[in-house]
Amino acid sequence: MKKLKATMTLDQHFKIAEVDKRIYGSFIEHLGRAVYGGIYEPDHPESDNQGFRTDVINLVKQLQVPIVRYPGGNMVSAYNWEDGVGPKAERPRRLELAWRTIETNEVGTNEFADWAKKVNADVMMAVNLGTRGIDAARNLIEYTNHPSGTYYSDLRRQHGYESPHNIKTWCLGNEMDGPWQVGQKTAYEYGRLANETGKAMKQVDPDIELVACGSSSSTMPTFPEYEATTLDLSYDTVDYISLHQYYGNRSNDTANYLAKNLDMAHFIKTVTATCDYIKAKHRSKKTINLSFDEWNVWYHSNDQDKQIEPWVVAPPQLEDHYNFEDALLVGSMLITFLQNADRVKMAAMAQLVNVIAPIMTENGGGSFKQTIFYPYMHTSIFGRGVSLKPILNVPKYDARDFTDVPYLDAAAVHNEETGELTIFIVNKHLSEAMPLEVDLRSFTGYSLVEHIELYHEDVKAVNTMTHEAVKPQLNTFTTCELGHLSAQLKQTSWNVIRLKK
Ligand code: AHR
Repeated sequence: MKKLKATMTLDQHFKIAEVDKRIYGSFIEHLGRAVYGGIYEPDHPESDNQGFRTDVINLVKQLQVPIVRYPGGNMVSAYNWEDGVGPKAERPRRLELAWRTIETNEVGTNEFADWAKKVNADVMMAVNLGTRGIDAARNLIEYTNHPSGTYYSDLRRQHGYESPHNIKTWCLGNEMDGPWQVGQKTAYEYGRLANETGKAMKQVDPDIELVACGSSSSTMPTFPEYEATTLDLSYDTVDYISLHQYYGNRSNDTANYLAKNLDMAHFIKTVTATCDYIKAKHRSKKTINLSFDEWNVWYHSNDQDKQIEPWVVAPPQLEDHYNFEDALLVGSMLITFLQNADRVKMAAMAQLVNVIAPIMTENGGGSFKQTIFYPYMHTSIFGRGVSLKPILNVPKYDARDFTDVPYLDAAAVHNEETGELTIFIVNKHLSEAMPLEVDLRSFTGYSLVEHIELYHEDVKAVNTMTHEAVKPQLNTFTTCELGHLSAQLKQTSWNVIRLKK
């Protein structure tokens, strides 16, 4: 059998683009125990004076999440934002139609803006374009962003928030192509509404940025026509188009599962091409970029969710327990964003706490890091700077749905200010380590800081409240001398190789 080995060439001039830190965003929806029992639990011993769990705040801070999407998701399509502001005792309990639960509205826009400050994140706010439209959206942005002297800005002040929240990034609805959405719309209906709503919102605050809904996944029958029509009708108004995609290993075929980021890369290229086609059609100088504002693994909890009784407050919905192979795919998906840093400017891991999340809690109890926490944390912390294009020479494999899958996925980020260079690599080989030789070309004077590795011999290993089976460790065998790095990448491993000048 031919011996496996890989080579990589990195040059600081092979630039893709500056990484927009917002690609490390996440998402909190009023869904399951994301809000109630997740970020907010007033009776919890570790909660602060606003009822926010400080153990969760500390874990979110470790991830350095720069922006958090809120309040949905499917939930936003029948949400009245007015229910969630003002005195808590007067807020209505409502039937929440998307997830068939009871929404108490104890947490709403102001509380969430406070929580986001506590974790050093910006808010990415979604407006309801399912059951509502222009009027509710323009009132909401007057409430959140206008300083004072008008009905809604003064209402906010009356509610105890003298200064505006100045929310800069807004989603025009959520997954409006989906038949599961309350108020689903054809591309024509949605494109017109998104344009008119966006125009009104920019009249209130011209500094905002708007994200139009694209397809709910690349498998939707209306993809990519939905994107093309929507952008055709709203090109001058909106700034980003959204992409959503979840993967699962339903057929228990790990080699095939780990290749699914190739599908994601193809999705990104197709949406980019669609944006540029409409740009050409409009003879426009403006470029629409991509907001991949829902992405993750989601399938472990599907059967369990079918057993949940409707109309209760905060049931344990979408509580996927992630294993080690999920962390590898999440790592590859993050690498895919870095490889497309010229067009993917925002992304949101869906979601952040309890609901398909890197952080899990127990009501009244502790919290822990799921396996997927680590690749997310590593890229968020070390993946800021310029994304470089590694030239890789690596063996490939064929899987059920994919051919020519490189055994290694790799991205590199150079932070010119701090003189740090970080290489992120997933080895997808199921049984063999991969020797890697890296020619560091122009990185004279750089030396190895550390090689962090996430590895477990069992790809199905999970973390729990009492046992962290999957956690990073150091690979101390990697060397770097005279611009030449040598590493041995364990089979099925996530690797972060850090160098510094
Ligand atoms: O993140 C879970 C759900 O997935 C969101 O509410 C929806 O937008 C998507 O279908």
